[in-house]
Amino acid sequence: MSNTKETISEINKRRTFAIISHPDAGKTTLTEKFLLYGGAINQAGSVKGKATAKHAVSDWMEIEKQRGISVTSSVLQFNYEDCCINILDTPGHQDFSEDTYRTLMAADSAVMVIDASKGVEAQTRKLFKVCAMSHIPIFTFINKLDRDAMDTFDLLDDIENNLGIATCPMNWPIGSGKNFKGIYDRREGHIVTFSETQKGTKEGKETFISLDDKAGIDSMVGQDAFEKLQSEIELLDGAGAEYDLEKVRAGELTPVFFGSALQNFGVELFLHHFLKMATPPTGRTSSDGEVIDPMERDFSAFVFKIQANMNKAHRDRVAFMRICSGRYDANNEVKHVQSGKVMRLSQPQQLMADERKILSEAYAGDIMGVFDPGIFSIGDTVCMPKDNIVYEGIPTFAPEHFARVRQVDTMKRKQFVKGITQIAQEGAIQIFQEYNTGLEEIIVGVVGVLQFDVLKFRLQSEYNVDIILENLPYEYIRWVDNEDIDMSSLVGTSDMKKIKDMHDRPLLLFINEWSVGMTMERNKGLVLSEFKKN
Ligand code: G4P
Repeated sequence: MSNTKETISEINKRRTFAIISHPDAGKTTLTEKFLLYGGAINQAGSVKGKATAKHAVSDWMEIEKQRGISVTSSVLQFNYEDCCINILDTPGHQDFSEDTYRTLMAADSAVMVIDASKGVEAQTRKLFKVCAMSHIPIFTFINKLDRDAMDTFDLLDDIENNLGIATCPMNWPIGSGKNFKGIYDRREGHIVTFSETQKGTKEGKETFISLDDKAGIDSMVGQDAFEKLQSEIELLDGAGAEYDLEKVRAGELTPVFFGSALQNFGVELFLHHFLKMATPPTGRTSSDGEVIDPMERDFSAFVFKIQANMNKAHRDRVAFMRICSGRYDANNEVKHVQSGKVMRLSQPQQLMADERKILSEAYAGDIMGVFDPGIFSIGDTVCMPKDNIVYEGIPTFAPEHFARVRQVDTMKRKQFVKGITQIAQEGAIQIFQEYNTGLEEIIVGVVGVLQFDVLKFRLQSEYNVDIILENLPYEYIRWVDNEDIDMSSLVGTSDMKKIKDMHDRPLLLFINEWSVGMTMERNKGLVLSEFKKN
């Protein structure tokens, strides 16, 4: 069965993206503004405002309540112009975890928010790397132009040098801070100024001024600022990368926009252009190399995240799926390919910021949460019973923090091993072992340090096991890709540790990045990788 016209039209409307940024760059504020323009909320702060969101997003885990943060991520869906937008909420701040990375695997594009006074920061770099790995288009919004900003050319250089992606400014800021006058729209060839904007609303007046409107420029921009703009445009036209939609869609060129999320400068312009440049869902590759066309093929989806114990009383788990092709119809049975089980998905729902909506249908590009009786694993495929699609696995991301874990009461060894392996299977932590030790001594690796607290809390509350965590100084992990390697003959550096993962695959831990290179040099032919496909 091929898809109907209606289904194809629905899929074509989908734009599924994640917003990546370093904490405080303005991701929440920008998301809020998008929702305002989409009419999904009436006032900034009502859905994702600092005070409310962190409690409203989920009260699934006690730890979230205790700390007032959100460990889980959700999706926000709204309509704008002709598009149906799914924004994947990637947890940031201290709750940054492997889930943040995995969520990016479900996005078709990414919006990168950069603070104009700071340039590219550490977390942006990490998230960018993951996006670059899947070659998704990346759109840059340089935020906070209402504050004093770095020189615009320096900002662009910073992105190119730090992230290795070419930039193409779509507009250009005129001044910054108190002297921020507006932006020059390079494609339209006019200046846009903003006035009467108010914090927390989408209200604001845009005025378009043509470059030869001398009176308009005099009154709205000022001669000095205009002269500076003219010389910058000249420089830019001679030096900057040309706009090339194909390169944008291949993730090789990032279109750059400037503005202020807080003051509503340039946000709607950005949204409008970005939605035109971003693609609807494109084909995903199955493990046998076939590209599954989202418009042509029937329903298929993959699991990118599993959230355990959303409701402690029921010990339930929710598997988050990204629909990759076709239309999901709650009346139809589907197949979990890895187990071969044919079933009706249980309570498929869309998890919005503060509500859950039971879904009767959904389309490629959408995300749904499904009650998981314990059969799904991260990376699994679900499709129509007649099909046999297996999507490529989700990579295991390199943890950046490590700790040795010991149980307090050694009599509870069984519960400890059960708990820690289950939590690892859900993907919240990764567990490793040293060579020649048993499971009573485990090294745990996490992407975000908060996961250590989650582990401790969950082992205590769900398995009644107390643990002691001893932090280890390692920061760099590399999987050894060479088959049949004799790990004992490997010559490393003094800060190197040899370990193995749950699948008995050999790995190396290092304290310094320098040692990684040194070890490669000392062992000719050694192949090390930062990510591992499951
Ligand atoms: P995040 O989600 O990326 O962490 O950032 P968030 O939007 O929460 O913004 C971080 C801080 O930066 C907030 O201030 C926010 O108001 C401010 N901000 C965001 N965009 C802009 C902008 O365009 N211009 C200026 N000047 N500030 C901006 P806060 O004081 O931490 O929080 P709040 O009390 O204002 O909510």
